[in-house]
Amino acid sequence: MELRVLPVDPSQKKPIPKDDSKLGFGRVFSDHMFQMEYSTDKGWHNARIEPYHPLTLDPACTVLHYGQEAFEGLKAYRGAKDGIFLFRHRENLRRMNASCRRLVMPEIDLDFVSDALKKLVLLDRDWIPHSPGCALYIRPNIIGVDPFLGVKPAENFIFYILVGPVGAYYPEGFNPVSIWVSDRYVRAVRGGIGEAKTGGNYAASLLAQKEAKQKGFSQVLWLDAIHRKYIEEVGTMNIFFMFDDEVATSPLDGSILPGITRDSVIQILRKWGVPVVERKFSIEEVISAQKSGALKEVFGTGTAAIISPVATIHYQGQNYTVADGKTGPLSKRLYDFLLDIQYGKKPDPFGWVERIG
Ligand code: COI
Repeated sequence: MELRVLPVDPSQKKPIPKDDSKLGFGRVFSDHMFQMEYSTDKGWHNARIEPYHPLTLDPACTVLHYGQEAFEGLKAYRGAKDGIFLFRHRENLRRMNASCRRLVMPEIDLDFVSDALKKLVLLDRDWIPHSPGCALYIRPNIIGVDPFLGVKPAENFIFYILVGPVGAYYPEGFNPVSIWVSDRYVRAVRGGIGEAKTGGNYAASLLAQKEAKQKGFSQVLWLDAIHRKYIEEVGTMNIFFMFDDEVATSPLDGSILPGITRDSVIQILRKWGVPVVERKFSIEEVISAQKSGALKEVFGTGTAAIISPVATIHYQGQNYTVADGKTGPLSKRLYDFLLDIQYGKKPDPFGWVERIG
């Protein structure tokens, strides 16, 4: 398939934000986007990079009623010698295809989309922030667009990629966040769509998220939907607990998002010789470890959140403080290491980082 590039008229270029400290997350988008369409007779076609634009959708279309969609989140970094770097971006595209299979949507061609994504990032490279911790967020999205109200998989889809400069996901930045354990709502159950990156999982989280915010917490920590006791994940990140010298995170058993930062952290810890296990553990185990002093650190991992230390866990009316409410040494070491390799500042022993410009 041919990829057309239709650059924006210079007179229509948008102002690039100057103050990286005010970027926040996900509010600003660059001058261009990638888009292509799918139909059962033509497959994916009409691939182009063109000026950022609103989509025109039939009000009856599948995604607007039945949520048939999947998305990804990844970043391009401006680093050493003004180089532009991607981090494990093919893993995101692979995961997108896994989400597409679960949501009965056509898969994308990894090589083609990887190439289009790089061209888009380089075309809008002036939008990539210069400050450490800031990056160009890349949001691929696939939506079902059949104008039909019957419940069935769509036959027509739009795939597009948006990019925009971002700072820290949480207003706290790299400072520790507080999380609220939901024992009333659940996010996902095995056999459902919890392991797919699809809007429905985030829609399911909104009410709990709103209640957590009202109580002064940044995020919700989800427990498993059946026993309501095993730790699953946090709103926008996977989560790790350090019990004495061992780090534990929940296994990928069907209801948890298989995070790429999660996988990277596991591999980094193994390389460092820090014991790390994927196992089921309950909120009671966490609370009793906190009480005995065995709970050393808690941190979340995610593309948007990077490494996010947790200072407070709220469960059933009680606040439990972790690491004296500070950023623990392991969280800090992981954060520094990840950023150093993502920004091309230190050698990447894993071969995860690709310089594209
Ligand atoms: C990411 O970490 O990139 C995500 O997709 C989380 C998000 C929903 C903001």
